[in-house]
Amino acid sequence: MRDNSQSTINVIAGPSSPDLAGRISRQIPAAELVPVELRFFCDGESKVRFRKVRGRCVIVQSTFPPVDTHLMHIFMMAKKCFADGATDITAVIPYLAYARQDRVFLDGELPSAELIADLLNASGVTSLVTVDIHSELALQYVSHAQNLSAIPKLAEYAQSNLALRNPVIVSPDSGGLSRAKMFANILGSKVLALDKTRDRESGEIKMDVKSMNEFQGNDAILVDDIISSGASISKAAEILKANGCRDVYAICTHYLAIGSATQKLRDAGITDIISTNSVPNEYAKVDLSTVISDSLQSQK
Ligand code: R5P
Repeated sequence: MRDNSQSTINVIAGPSSPDLAGRISRQIPAAELVPVELRFFCDGESKVRFRKVRGRCVIVQSTFPPVDTHLMHIFMMAKKCFADGATDITAVIPYLAYARQDRVFLDGELPSAELIADLLNASGVTSLVTVDIHSELALQYVSHAQNLSAIPKLAEYAQSNLALRNPVIVSPDSGGLSRAKMFANILGSKVLALDKTRDRESGEIKMDVKSMNEFQGNDAILVDDIISSGASISKAAEILKANGCRDVYAICTHYLAIGSATQKLRDAGITDIISTNSVPNEYAKVDLSTVISDSLQSQK
């Protein structure tokens, strides 16, 4: 057992992401994995427990559902590291919930992403690492934040593992176009963005495409940061199919797969779904650990 000295990086295996934390720690020579015991009281309150840590601490915890509970565990783990005397505390939150609430859209709302940043700071977190965050604006409230991207890894996976026929890379909305462009550059493919609007009150999605004539008979890869209910990607897949695309793939960083999302995607004619392991799921074919461990090792 290694002495828990100042040079050790304590990788704290958050209850939502023990597998990812283990993978990250195995790639960092100076890392020591710290298992976390989680208990729930009968009213739903949770309690975390782990051994004393010092020096540099890295908490790994993605905040997929139950979102608020997973966030609470981060605050608790950070507070415990701080109380133990950790010198710096990095929260690795590959999927950071609340990033879609980066600003006020309707009267009476609040930018909840700012509150999450306040709570991270107050718990002792000194830096934050996210992956393909929905909006980098959500990071403006955090003093030291870095957003990594899984898009190169996802594109390499697609290139090596899918039998693609002249694929066009498609973002379901204009906000995701830069991600889709990055993906398309790696494959040497053309790229386009569909025109998506969401009614802020009802959540209803409307989607359209201007011209797709040149892509009839091509495969298509839909690229998004998050697939949650599957509504956006299934609507996009229907449009691509109606416009003559052959196989349509859904590739995302964070596959939340809420409710019947997978069935919805299948019903819309999606050939396959590919995601990273930011959210454990059966389509998590791309491992994020090297992207994260490389970044952690390059800091200091
Ligand atoms: C929104 O703009 C995001 O990039 C995703 O497209 C969205 O969050 C996906 O949600 P859903 O699967 O529920 O349509």
